[in-house]
Amino acid sequence: MTKLSVNINKIATLRNARGGNIPDVIKAARDIERFGAQGITVHPRPDERHITYRDVRELKDVVKTELNIEGNPKEKKFVDLVLEVKPHQVTLVPDALGQLTSDHGWDTFANKEFLKEMISAFKANGIRTSIFVNADLKMIEGAKETGTDRIELYTETYAKNFTTEKEKAIIPFTQSATLANELGLGINAGHDLSLNNLKYFKQHVPGLMEVSIGHALISDALYLGLENTVQMYLSQLK
Ligand code: PXP
Repeated sequence: MTKLSVNINKIATLRNARGGNIPDVIKAARDIERFGAQGITVHPRPDERHITYRDVRELKDVVKTELNIEGNPKEKKFVDLVLEVKPHQVTLVPDALGQLTSDHGWDTFANKEFLKEMISAFKANGIRTSIFVNADLKMIEGAKETGTDRIELYTETYAKNFTTEKEKAIIPFTQSATLANELGLGINAGHDLSLNNLKYFKQHVPGLMEVSIGHALISDALYLGLENTVQMYLSQLK
């Protein structure tokens, strides 16, 4: 089974544009779970331009499925927040300060000692770990050496090339997943997954445990409604 974790950052972006509490991020998280999603993802950034640290603290007691917090462990504030909130999963992402969105995975060799140290600290606190990686076999071998429970495959190249050459675009992801399965690493995936490309991805990536989807899903909800949209994404994963 592949779980759907909905990234609710975009709901916070909309709220922050006006400064009040509309739309209500906490209510949205509750509703998304009620509509059937099996997880909620948040990616607090140091400038708090979408999800705030306060939101994350509130979500801890609200999320009944799985809370996944993404971010860069090079920021102490992020590490402290994760250790305080103790989510089900932390996804470590090497994004820079002020970056628009995540656009690359870890170099798991260059950052091996650092990742090992962080991963063992999170695991010692009962938090499952995942690290964001490109679909690159060498990086997946390196991921194994960090001690992480899972990897999250960065799917932007797949999404970008899906419409023109999906058979070719999926190959590195199928190969990466096959290797990760052999190495005993769990597999998550995310970035630009959508109603168009999700089903094919799921069908060709063996052992896919979770997808984390934000931008396309929240955008679809404007037209299709949130409940309907969550159901439609879930049906792509069946
Ligand atoms: N995974 C990671 C590590 C991300 O940073 C993001 C975007 O915040 C996503 C998944 C979700 O990507 P999208 O918003 O394109 O669905």
